[in-house]
Amino acid sequence: YVIGIDLGTSAVKILLVNQNGDVVQEVSKDYPLIQEKSGYSEQNPQDWVDQTIAGLSDLLHNFNYEPNDIEGISFSGQMHGLVLLDENNDVLRNAILWNDTRTTAECEEIDNRVGRERLLSITKNIPLEGFTLPKILWVKKHEPDIFKKAKSFVLPKDYVRYKLTGQIHMDYSDAAGTLLLDIVKKEWSKEICDLLDLDIHLCPPLVDSHAEVGTIKPEIARLTGLPEQTRVFAGGADNACGAIGAGILSEGKTLASIGTSGVVLSYEDSGEKDFQGKVHYFNHGAPQAYYTMGVTLAAGQSLTWFKNTFAKNKSFDDLLKEVESVPVGSNGLLFTPYIDGERTPHVDAQIRGSFIGLDRSHEEKHFVRAVLEGITFSLHESVEIFRENGREINEIISIGGGAKNEAWLQMQADIFNARVVKLQSEQGPGMGAAMLAAYGCGWFPTLQDCAEKFLKVDKVYEPIEDRVEKYKKLFTLYKQVYTATKSLN
Ligand code: XUL
Repeated sequence: YVIGIDLGTSAVKILLVNQNGDVVQEVSKDYPLIQEKSGYSEQNPQDWVDQTIAGLSDLLHNFNYEPNDIEGISFSGQMHGLVLLDENNDVLRNAILWNDTRTTAECEEIDNRVGRERLLSITKNIPLEGFTLPKILWVKKHEPDIFKKAKSFVLPKDYVRYKLTGQIHMDYSDAAGTLLLDIVKKEWSKEICDLLDLDIHLCPPLVDSHAEVGTIKPEIARLTGLPEQTRVFAGGADNACGAIGAGILSEGKTLASIGTSGVVLSYEDSGEKDFQGKVHYFNHGAPQAYYTMGVTLAAGQSLTWFKNTFAKNKSFDDLLKEVESVPVGSNGLLFTPYIDGERTPHVDAQIRGSFIGLDRSHEEKHFVRAVLEGITFSLHESVEIFRENGREINEIISIGGGAKNEAWLQMQADIFNARVVKLQSEQGPGMGAAMLAAYGCGWFPTLQDCAEKFLKVDKVYEPIEDRVEKYKKLFTLYKQVYTATKSLN
């Protein structure tokens, strides 16, 4: 067996996976978000460690195994979160998470001191509040006494792995989200550190996602039931692991993931292409590979908002039941999902959403279909950027909540104008982490061989021509709404 640990923003999800790729045991343990002020989002790293240990212990408690049965363990983690460590590797303050937006001034400072062009050519990304580097600069400026004690920083899953093994590392896929990594040379950028007066020694040693980085400490083995000889592999960023867990492991493969936020992610075999920072460009968890990614901030979140505001007592299943019966275009009702601002393509935290085209005949079901269409249009803007940059997209693997509803899957095929594939028992980033452990343990010669064995197609949705045409027209309108409503607030 191997174990995949997915350290998410609301919970840690742990999967025990056998050599066929079946999940034989599964546990989830949650922990709180700390929001002291508007825009702040923090977590206590000790909560991650305690809940991971409790989860592993629950996972193994009712399971009959010999010590040698559990061969390897690896990780997927929420990206970008800053964990600052002192000289004893003790945590100096709460972790500042990816969805914390206090760092707008620091993003400007990075643009001014490093320069957008230089930053893009080294990191391939533009400064965003969510990334780690602006968070480091924020602590340096606002909490100088804490910063003085900092000897290194790591990302969330790296800290948990350190507490399990005693070894500090960061893998390339997560390091790419710091804005300090030269993603092609795969080394920390001394130039960026120097321009911002940061000591490059704050940056931890870099490894591949499938690299073996240690074994389980005896006291952790005692607490969890994990054998001490269990091999520990570094793991990767949740988006990279989500991609591995959906088989996005060769040129031409694309993923649409609709959860709270939404992601369209495309495999890249080189880090040398130029997307001018319009989409994120990160190292993959697969060796020598990359991925590009566009983000819709409020994907499932838009539907949750709609339900909580207008249909509190209904389940999501009830709410979505009638979507199929509403025609393409929701009888003229158009929704833009900018309720938390928008990342791709606008990078605009201020823009807000809209319903346009209201008619007295509209009922709840029209609004629900319009919300799904608006979310999918937003994701399609990322698909368009990939296509405009020469990528052919004929097939998209759909995962997350958006892959749980037939009408929405067909809608994705019609809006993306691509075949949409739903996987059997899709497990997201936790499966990607388990696959990294399986590959690290030598079960397969490549991650792709592992994907062929572990991942099975459930159903394929082909685009329907007349719907594709209707959506093309509506999408042109959808894109105009951003410009037309930009000055509303
Ligand atoms: C990616 C991002 C999120 C987090 C969520 O840039 O900010 O997807 O990785 O965990």
